Amino acid sequence: MAQAKLFSPVSIGGLELKNRIVIAPMCQYSAEDGKMTDWHLMHLGMLANSGAGILTIEATAVTPEGRISYGDVGLYSDDCERAMGRVLDGVRRWSDMPIAIQLGHAGRKASSDLPWNGGGQIAPDAEGGWKTEAPSAVAFKTEYDSPTALDRDGLNRIRIAFADAARRAARLDLAAVQIHGAHGYLLHQFLSPLSNQRTDEYGGSLENRMRFPLEVFESVREAFRDSPLTMRVSATDWVPGGWDIEQTIAFAQALEKRGCDAMHVSSGGLAVNQQIAIGPNYQVPFARQVKAAVNIPVIAVGLITEFEQAEAIIGTGDADLVAIARAILYDPRWPWHAAAHFGDTVSAADQYLRCQPRQFRNLFA
Ligand SMILES: Cc1cc2nc3c(=O)[nH]c(=O)nc-3n(C[C@H](O)[C@H](O)[C@H](O)COP(=O)(O)O)c2cc1C
Repeated sequence: MAQAKLFSPVSIGGLELKNRIVIAPMCQYSAEDGKMTDWHLMHLGMLANSGAGILTIEATAVTPEGRISYGDVGLYSDDCERAMGRVLDGVRRWSDMPIAIQLGHAGRKASSDLPWNGGGQIAPDAEGGWKTEAPSAVAFKTEYDSPTALDRDGLNRIRIAFADAARRAARLDLAAVQIHGAHGYLLHQFLSPLSNQRTDEYGGSLENRMRFPLEVFESVREAFRDSPLTMRVSATDWVPGGWDIEQTIAFAQALEKRGCDAMHVSSGGLAVNQQIAIGPNYQVPFARQVKAAVNIPVIAVGLITEFEQAEAIIGTGDADLVAIARAILYDPRWPWHAAAHFGDTVSAADQYLRCQPRQFRNLFA
């Protein structure tokens, strides 16, 4: 019997998770032409043996221009789908952890170099770069090439690309899709008045700024009918006059009405002058406010690193699940160690059962 709330089961849109630990999406910048490689097989294989409730595949671009960098994973072609299928086959052979995917488009933050090369923008005419697209021709940084403002055809093309990628995700039997509406990428660029300066029905009022993200959501919902669909948001731009928690709540309620199965609450990433009050739990108050306004599960994320900290977030009702990123790269057995700490259980691969330390004799379910 589970003792800790962290290890109690939870359901997201009918998908039953064994515990409330979510592995957050983490870009690996190790794809080739959008295609997953052996790195992904190793990386996802490692995380799929961590005992978490669900594993989220990194931000996966719905068009080649939607990739943050030339090393991003994509799901916009048969080749991409095949490469991902190969990785998933390998991982699933050895783990039954549900695997979700984050689908996104980087908008004006696309055409970037790999983080370990500095992460700056690659000019459209330089090797590995391309012209970016966004709601308005406003660059992320003043020294960056300005994006092309999307016209009606461009919006339609991207909306359809999201739906096509979701159909591929369904074919790959992925357990859930998360739409990336956070961190200053394309959909967040539409939401925030700082990056969206349009004067048509996709800019101006909150209703207009939400229009394209909601149209994308509806098209993906239609394409991915049978499994959970969630949204990741930035709750605030951390800039006065930017996107904020009140607008996030309105967005969450509009999504819930359209069949969203969970909200994943992050923050920031849109503006270079953001002033983030960073520290343990720094985004949890936003999750709590969203949770108070909707009736779907809410996931908290951001500097959640300690077992008791994670338990308290669930136990006090701040959020229904916690997502972990850096801490689980650092310690891929974080959920095992959390279970051992609470006297709880996790599932482990048969090959690893003999590692169970004497003092945690009942760790493996
Ligand atoms: C290596 C790395 C890659 C990331 N890639 C993504 C991504 O693909 N999509 C996304 O929404 N967030 C991404 N993030 C942000 C994380 O999902 C998470 O929100 C953030 O790191 C805060 O959580 P943490 O304190 O547990 O690391 C990434 C973070 C890291 C460290």
